[in-house]
Amino acid sequence: MKFFTAVQLGLALAFTYGANAQGTCSTPATISGYSDAKLPNPFLFNDGTPVQTAADWTCRRSQIAALIQGYEAGTLPPAPYANSNMAQQNDNSSRGVGLFYNLYGKNHSASAMTAWVWGVSRIIDALEANPSASINTSKIAVTGCSRDGKGALMAGAFEPRIALTIPQESGSGGDACWRLSLYEQNSGSVVQTATEIVQENVWFSTNFANYVNNLTVLPIDHHLLLAMVAPRGLISFENTDYVWLSPLSSFGCETAAHTVYTALGVPQNHGFEQIGGHAHCAWPANLTASLDAFFNKFLLDENVSTDEWSTNNVFNNVTWTASDWIDWTTPTLS
Ligand SMILES: *[C@@H]1O[C@H](CO)[C@@H](O)[C@H](O)[C@H]1NC(C)=O
Ligand SMILES: *[C@@H]1O[C@H](CO)[C@@H](O)[C@H](O)[C@H]1NC(C)=O
Ligand SMILES: *[C@@H]1O[C@H](CO)[C@@H](O)[C@H](O)[C@H]1NC(C)=O
Ligand SMILES: *[C@@H]1O[C@H](CO)[C@@H](O)[C@H](O)[C@H]1NC(C)=O
Ligand SMILES: *[C@@H]1O[C@H](CO)[C@@H](O)[C@H](O)[C@H]1NC(C)=O
Ligand SMILES: *[C@@H]1O[C@H](CO)[C@@H](O)[C@H](O)[C@H]1NC(C)=O
Ligand SMILES: *[C@@H]1O[C@H](CO)[C@@H](O)[C@H](O)[C@H]1NC(C)=O
Repeated sequence: MKFFTAVQLGLALAFTYGANAQGTCSTPATISGYSDAKLPNPFLFNDGTPVQTAADWTCRRSQIAALIQGYEAGTLPPAPYANSNMAQQNDNSSRGVGLFYNLYGKNHSASAMTAWVWGVSRIIDALEANPSASINTSKIAVTGCSRDGKGALMAGAFEPRIALTIPQESGSGGDACWRLSLYEQNSGSVVQTATEIVQENVWFSTNFANYVNNLTVLPIDHHLLLAMVAPRGLISFENTDYVWLSPLSSFGCETAAHTVYTALGVPQNHGFEQIGGHAHCAWPANLTASLDAFFNKFLLDENVSTDEWSTNNVFNNVTWTASDWIDWTTPTLS
């Protein structure tokens, strides 16, 4: 029998991980004067110095986490477990004051994405606190499709206790890159873009609307969100039957993220499968083998191959030219 825990997104509680600032690692929320029409280089720190070691990547990842919150996702608060934060206890005037009473307030910068991540983290806290639930919290997977695929990726990126992240048909706002989706749109495909997404729903922060018409100033894009999952297990499934899912963008963005898994020496921990022939969020049987491989490796510790990477190249005549978007060479971080 196969046991695994899949935290299916759908549960939302409102709210920041401060970035994991460590020692000299500076993690500002924004970088003024940044400009890059191509995808931002994962292997350069904010100050332009090279990322050369695995320890460097830990700091770089913290920078990316802070920037994603700063520009597009809003603040992700830490666990609210200090009892005085939950309910203040200074004096009589503390009555009714504290997170318990207003959780975070409706004006908190958290978007639906960071709020969902917060909720997933609190579920894992509860599982850790209750071993009698008999769930091995080092073997948790997160998945979801479409908007919940965007959320599943965000959760896997920000919550390092998730062993396996499985975004399904997440498209723009998920495993697609904002810059590439715009390029796809400019090439004639009607896809979900950053300008569209901030009008459609509350998935991203109100602050993001300040940047969607000028993507070059963003020191992030979603290849860096995907890369935050590394070296943990990540397999994304995309569906080329839906043009708005921005198939070229997902492929290019995943390709850019793959350089980080390669740099860390674990390219096989990152899978991508892009096919058509099924309804949005339906599960075609011919994807089961690659999903099983990732389950077996990351949830059951089996020594199986997870070299799962394919696309049908159905990009609606939009051309992927890697050098137009990826201007870095992949280092070896060890
Ligand atoms: C706090 O409130 C209680 C109950 O109303 C009252 O008896 C007490 O005097 C108050 N303490 C202070 C310092 O105001
Ligand atoms: C929340 O923001 C709105 C709009 O800016 C403002 O009118 C309202 O007073 C704010 N509420 C709180 C509790 O700060
Ligand atoms: C959880 O899984 C890890 C990795 O397989 C294993 O080392 C650990 O013993 C497991 N914990 C429990 C409580 O089963
Ligand atoms: C985008 O931002 C850059 C850098 O701040 C600026 O030079 C440029 O004018 C902006 N473009 C638009 C269309 O706002
Ligand atoms: C998987 O099955 C679908 C039909 O459900 C088909 O359109 C697609 O080509 C198949 N893909 C692969 C890689 O076998
Ligand atoms: C995993 O399997 C591969 C291929 O069969 C083998 O070369 C390798 O030694 C195995 N690793 C472990 C830790 O068993
Ligand atoms: C792609 O180009 C071919 C050849 O010009 C054309 O027949 C086809 O309709 C195009 N497909 C799309 C989705 O635009």
